Amino acid sequence: MKLTSEATAARAKSPRKELRRRDSLPDLSRFLTAEQHRIHLVGVAGSGMSGLAGLLIELGHAVSGSDKVTTTETDRLQRLGLRFHEQHLAEHADVAELVVFSSAIKDDNPILLTARSCGKPLFRRAEAVAAIMQAKRGIVVAGMHGKTTTSAMTAHVLREGGLHPSHYVGAEIPILGTNAYWNQRGEYFVAEGDESDGTLRCFRPEHALILNIEEEHLDFYPDLAAIEKVFAQLIDQTSGSVLYNIDDPNTARLCGKHKRTVSYGFSEQADYRGSEVELRNFGSSFLVFRRGEKLGQATLNVPGEHNVHNALGVIALASELSIPFDKITASLRKFEHARRRFEIKYASDRFLLVDDYAHHPTEICATLRTAKSIGRRRLVTMFQPHRFSRTKALCREFGCAFDDADQVVITDVYPASEPPIPGITGQTIVDEIVRHAHHGVAYQPQLQSVHRHVGNMLEAGDLVLSLGAGNIHEQLEILAADLVIGEKLKAIVGEEGEVRLYEPLANHTTLRVGGPAQFWVEPRSEQAFAELIRFCDDEHLPMFVIGRGSNLLVRDGGIRGVVVHPHGGDFEKIEVNGCEITAGAGAKLRQVAYAARAANLGGLEWMEGIPGMVGGGLRMNAGAMGAQTFENVTRIRYLDAEGNSHVKDRNELEVFYRRFPLLERNFAVSATFCGQPAERAKIDLRLRESQEKRRTTQPAAKSAGCIFKNPATIPAGKLVDELGLKNSRVGNARVSRVHGNFIVNDGNATAAEVLALIDDIKSVARKKRGIELETEVEIVGESE
Ligand code: EPU
Repeated sequence: MKLTSEATAARAKSPRKELRRRDSLPDLSRFLTAEQHRIHLVGVAGSGMSGLAGLLIELGHAVSGSDKVTTTETDRLQRLGLRFHEQHLAEHADVAELVVFSSAIKDDNPILLTARSCGKPLFRRAEAVAAIMQAKRGIVVAGMHGKTTTSAMTAHVLREGGLHPSHYVGAEIPILGTNAYWNQRGEYFVAEGDESDGTLRCFRPEHALILNIEEEHLDFYPDLAAIEKVFAQLIDQTSGSVLYNIDDPNTARLCGKHKRTVSYGFSEQADYRGSEVELRNFGSSFLVFRRGEKLGQATLNVPGEHNVHNALGVIALASELSIPFDKITASLRKFEHARRRFEIKYASDRFLLVDDYAHHPTEICATLRTAKSIGRRRLVTMFQPHRFSRTKALCREFGCAFDDADQVVITDVYPASEPPIPGITGQTIVDEIVRHAHHGVAYQPQLQSVHRHVGNMLEAGDLVLSLGAGNIHEQLEILAADLVIGEKLKAIVGEEGEVRLYEPLANHTTLRVGGPAQFWVEPRSEQAFAELIRFCDDEHLPMFVIGRGSNLLVRDGGIRGVVVHPHGGDFEKIEVNGCEITAGAGAKLRQVAYAARAANLGGLEWMEGIPGMVGGGLRMNAGAMGAQTFENVTRIRYLDAEGNSHVKDRNELEVFYRRFPLLERNFAVSATFCGQPAERAKIDLRLRESQEKRRTTQPAAKSAGCIFKNPATIPAGKLVDELGLKNSRVGNARVSRVHGNFIVNDGNATAAEVLALIDDIKSVARKKRGIELETEVEIVGESE
């Protein structure tokens, strides 16, 4: 059969007229379900389009599709026979006998333009789905919220009830196998009807299940009346029963007029009535009555009262199709969620991570209410607004939607093919939430940073929710994957230790710059440290040890892997034994100097002037006042790359100016220093000299100590001074006026700025004096 192309030619002048052409439905139905053709789908990666592609392949057509992105769905469909193109090319229209396009495709798409100009039959997605449904007894599930879950639940209950239904729903449904399925055996076809673009009126089902009707998609509809008009047409075109939610006033008003109706809900008037609802952690149970007669109890393993409502609709429909009540309840008990519908991504006693598709204020309220009822300590929410038009139209409602959340992070708007609206961003919603007197809201415009933002605020007992119809769930997935590792690290360091995700290293360096540590871990004992080393080795996780962060420059992209900060516990202990002072790697060198003073031991006073810890002092053989660390070291204790501990005497160690190679691959645990008995007054004098030297020659501002090693011929500070580079700057990074070998952070400097300034100094020294300056600070991490 050939579809007439005159209609298409007429449509060419006014592309969106396709919608009005109802007369082609029987022909299109035959074309799609009783014959086999070459069909091209424009925008095939979309959730609705990929389902349609699956149906058409199962119906035996030669299906090709184009999209600017590939997804796991397009990969799966390719394995089933889809010819996929990651680009929209005009020639795709030439080879196809029929072209179907998604609502997200713009009118100037080359395939659409070609199809129109050569009079190729061209249909919208919903027209194709409606035509396929025409070959079966159609059931459409429609409404603003919950239709994916409810259509999946309907297909599942009908399938378990032995009716072999075909289905078409808007998301991946693990319990159904795929988002769309053509079952030759069964009579019924269950489809989720999309109201967003008016195409709901394409459907002429036998039954319709209407969940709720309210203001939504105001990018497409001028007002609620326009939305109701589309629903009214669908109801009008329903040949059998209209099942509707009597508790939703708009739905009840509109559906009540139909000739054959079945109502459901909690209202006394409902034909199928639910009562005595008990909500549990991830499910519920409730009693069901049919026109006053008690049918029995139903149990759900999906959470929230809104799902009790959805299930009542399904019970009503399945009962009207004569599926016995006990069969219905048995299958409802087994029903699992659709993807992205309160989908648990990570669960432990300490944390629960849940993803939900909610993007309308009503849905957000319902999801947050459900999340709160689970009873975790705090509710932390990340939300990605979906569409500029919705953000603008419903910003007030969004402002009130987050009351149940303790912390909210809002990112920028997911445009979903819309052009931006000036002045409308994630900040619009943040402002409304603040206006609504919520104190825990933050704006994070960079989507790729949301997992870090939220991850860093986590506390044991948190339930973290990602909300939105765009791609925010990817951020929760990254967080969940990192949390799995984070929790293993926590088990290693125990109750007393500390693990934080994405800890900003600017908080842990004296220069106050540096991006996040993927895993920040503070062990409190040598044994925990050793276990960390072995864990990182087994898991191939890079590991970096940081002490006071005083001689460190961390790049703005932070450090991937585990950043260990041996701190507190064993690591802070300082013990004096005769002339020997043993100090943990996490003790400050300054504390060692004062412990020596207390024991009347001299020779360590210079350590007063070093801002670092023992571990860092050892690692770089730090020095001041003409002395250096290893001049005072008797022995050190360290862990090797396998986590085994060793003790080595000074004479076994190879040490250089500002370099100690052994600790480049091993990890200091403690060091024993040797002092000489001295009079307290002499010690105090030397301590004062050191303080005075620092005070008079070094800046008090935020810095990383000396930036360069002293070249053999001239101290680096003197060289920079002579080159006239003091006070020169890149952004907020500036060479100190006090000392030429210090770069200071004037406030919010970035690592990139500090590095650029270092490069400037090096190139001037090279050019003017032929001196190759070498940095003393350790530069680590990734660029942003
Ligand atoms: N000088 C200048 N202009 C300057 C800075 C220094 O002319 O802007 C001159 C000084 O007058 C002095 C000479 O350069 O004659 C050396 O300066 P300073 O005495 O300040 O010592 P330094 O070599 O720059 C070293 C350590 C410091 C330590 C001090 C004090 C190095 C790279 N630096 O500095 O250590 O605090 O001695 O004992 O060895 C560090 O390693 O991070 C650090 C700050």
